[in-house]
Amino acid sequence: MNLGGIYKELAQLDQALASTLKSLELKPDNPTALMNLGGIYKELAQLDQALASTLKSLELKPDNPDALNNLKGFIDQLTLSSANALSLTKAYELLINLDNISHKKLSKIFTQSFLPTIQEAAQTDPIISSNNNALNNLAADWRLRKSLTLLIPPHQAIENFLTRLRKELLVLVANQKSIPKSLKSLAEALAMQSFLNEYVYAQSPEEEKLVEQLIDSASSHQETFNQNLAIIACYLPIYQLSFNQDWLENYPTATYESRTLIQTQLQEPQEEERIKATIETDSEISDSISIKVQDMYEENPYPRYRYADFTDKSLAKSISKAIEIESTKQNLQFSEALTSNHSRPKVLIAGCGTGNQVINASRYKNAQITAIDLSSSSLAYAIRKAKEYGMDNVDFRKMDLLAVAALDKIFDVIECGGVLHHMEDPSKGISALNKQLKPGGYIKLGLYSDIARQDIVIARNHIKQLRLKSTADSIREFRQQVLTGEFKDLASLPRFGRNFYSLSECRDLCFHVQEHRFTPEFLQELLDAEGLIFCGFMLPEAVKNNYQKQFPSDTYMTSLENWGDFEKQNPTTFRAMYQFWACKPS
Ligand SMILES: C[S@@+](CC[C@H](N)C(=O)[O-])C[C@H]1O[C@@H](n2cnc3c(N)ncnc32)[C@H](O)[C@@H]1O
Repeated sequence: MNLGGIYKELAQLDQALASTLKSLELKPDNPTALMNLGGIYKELAQLDQALASTLKSLELKPDNPDALNNLKGFIDQLTLSSANALSLTKAYELLINLDNISHKKLSKIFTQSFLPTIQEAAQTDPIISSNNNALNNLAADWRLRKSLTLLIPPHQAIENFLTRLRKELLVLVANQKSIPKSLKSLAEALAMQSFLNEYVYAQSPEEEKLVEQLIDSASSHQETFNQNLAIIACYLPIYQLSFNQDWLENYPTATYESRTLIQTQLQEPQEEERIKATIETDSEISDSISIKVQDMYEENPYPRYRYADFTDKSLAKSISKAIEIESTKQNLQFSEALTSNHSRPKVLIAGCGTGNQVINASRYKNAQITAIDLSSSSLAYAIRKAKEYGMDNVDFRKMDLLAVAALDKIFDVIECGGVLHHMEDPSKGISALNKQLKPGGYIKLGLYSDIARQDIVIARNHIKQLRLKSTADSIREFRQQVLTGEFKDLASLPRFGRNFYSLSECRDLCFHVQEHRFTPEFLQELLDAEGLIFCGFMLPEAVKNNYQKQFPSDTYMTSLENWGDFEKQNPTTFRAMYQFWACKPS
């Protein structure tokens, strides 16, 4: 390791920076030094410099997985500015062409980049008119079209625009029988976006009627079918419609958008159905809350996604490395199972949902993964994705985590993100998991914060008072009321982020059948009761730096009491949940 790297390991970042800059003076085109420089800038929360150095490193050594990983690690924390616009556009183009990244990380940049043109295009009424140059520009931009197939833009004005555009396309096709050629790929991308957000956009009875008519006419002629399919798919997923099989197979797929449409709305759901039929329940699910939660996720597997953060086998590292990076506590003790390159650590992912965490666990070298969930639909999605990424080290099981002892296995590492707060008694859940965790093992948890979710508490109260059911129609209706400002006390809910902008995530966010919320003090009690030791929160560097300024004596940032105070002053800190590792002493 070079001197800069040694200083960085020792958390002496100023020395690391000086030493790396000095070595670059001697050899400015050293891609490894530039990559390291990017890493140091990231730790210093100087993200524009981190971006510039990492991109320069990638220019000199394209496809370098470590540099790409660094970029993936901070891209979501960047804000578009005139100073970084060029670099950020380059990074964006690079990352939307990768299939081993979770593209939701790019949604903020998407919004910042495309919102001005979208707002300009939205000023013309109707949007679809030959003099709407902004629309023509959007339709011709491959980055916009591709992004719509990969990520959900969490912005009200973008949703309004796409909802209007969808309706205009529908009316146009219903009247004139075909989509203008220049808008065909955009319409297909819009169909993908609608599928990805699980048809969360508002739709009028008039639109529903027109869709029915389009389906009818598309069922009678192959040519009409080819012309109408993308518009129909903006309202209903293709796999749910009974069209002529030959026509579906022969739908023209010369472009990325048309291929993706058929793949995601037809072939992949069919594959999931086949997988679902093979899934057996390992042990009976009897807990009454677990049964309700299961029903919810059977209907809406959470969340739908195209790609996830995947690490190729050859680049995976020992689990201890990941835990060290994600924890603030230093000098952690690790068993050989977690450090050795030759061990085969056992990892449990409890409540794996659609498999994001499973794909993410590809970064653990030689891991033997067991992934459990209550919902067959979620498991089928997860199994399909794991297969797609060639992960053959995962044993998927349908079971309640309360019954995890039935697996008769002890794990070196357990991950349980966004699950325990949906159980009747989260402490019973953590206790069941802890019994299967090896002494010296680590557990990663993701739990809701009470302070960060105060908007959600208000939303849940409205939903309860209005007796809204947790159905797709009710969720759409509730969202419209929020978006049109009917609830004065919920004006900030659309800014909660991506979770508001897809059906399964909005259901999870506001309509969940069971929700507990935590405080740092409560986390401490929960961990103490299980004899687990808190290893520090996973948070952006800028937040950790702020905390350190306020609590300089808490060197490892592990005082949950201090975090309680910090959160009261900064109530949105844990909007993305409390996420942390804890260890079980040996
Ligand atoms: C909000 S999703 C989170 C999915 C995944 N952990 C992620 O972060 O992408 C919660 C998942 O936990 C599962 N779940 C909830 N309670 C469970 C239980 N008692 N046992 C097993 N899985 C459970 C649900 O079926 C659902 O798929």
